[in-house]
Amino acid sequence: MDHPIRLAVLLSAHGSTLQNLLDRINDGRLWAQIAVVIASRADAYGLVRAERAGVPTVLVARKEFGAVATFSDRIFTLCREAKADLVCMAGFLQLVRIPDDFRGRVMNIHPSLIPAFCGQGYYGHHVHEAVLAYGAKVSGCTVHFADNQYDHGPIILQKVVPVQEDDDFETLAERVYRQECQAYPEAIKLFAEGRLELEGRRVRVLPPRQEPRANPGVVGPV
Ligand code: GRF
Repeated sequence: MDHPIRLAVLLSAHGSTLQNLLDRINDGRLWAQIAVVIASRADAYGLVRAERAGVPTVLVARKEFGAVATFSDRIFTLCREAKADLVCMAGFLQLVRIPDDFRGRVMNIHPSLIPAFCGQGYYGHHVHEAVLAYGAKVSGCTVHFADNQYDHGPIILQKVVPVQEDDDFETLAERVYRQECQAYPEAIKLFAEGRLELEGRRVRVLPPRQEPRANPGVVGPV
C-alpha cells in the first residue's frame, strides 16, 4: 500500500480499543490513519478520545434507526465517504449488515477465544465473568472478519492467556486486554500488507511479500 491504511472505527462505549490504535499510530508502530470514528451512542467516551486526537467523529445513534438495514446503510455510506480501506469495530455493540463492497473489509475484536463466550450479550465484563463461572483454564482474544452475525466471521488471529487461580473478572480482563493491544494492530498490518487469504472460514496468513501489493485487502472471496 502506498499510503497509510485508512480506517473507519465503529464504537459504542469507552473507546479503549480506539485509544490503543491512536497510541500505536502516534508512536509509529502502526502505519494507519483513522479517517472517521462512528459512534452508536451519544454518551460513548470514545467520541471524546477521538475529538481529543483531532479525528472526525459522527454519531449514528442506533435508537434513531428502526431496521438494521437502514442503520447499516448510514454507517457504510459514511465509511465510503471517508474512503476507508478497512472498518474496525472497536467495542461496537450493534449488529450491522455488511454491504457487498465492504465484505472482507470489516474486522472485529472480541475478548474471548471464539467460538467460546461470544455472541449477543457477551460483551465487556460479561465475557470474563462467564469464563470464570465456567471454570475455563484459558481465555484470550480473537480478531476476525465481521459478517452479519455477532462475533461470527472468519478468524484472523487469536491470542491465549491463562486463567489464574485468584482471578476476578477485572484481573482477567486486564490480562486479555494487554493481548488485544497487540492483536488488533497486528491484524490490521497483515490486512494492509495484503497477507490475509480467505478460503471458506479459514484465513491463511501469507508470508511477507518482496513486492508491495498495489491493492491491499483480502485475497480470494469472502
Ligand atoms: C474490548 O474488550 C474488545 O475486545 C471489545 O470491546 C472492548 C473494548 O471496548 N470488542 P471499549 O473500546 O473500551 O469500549
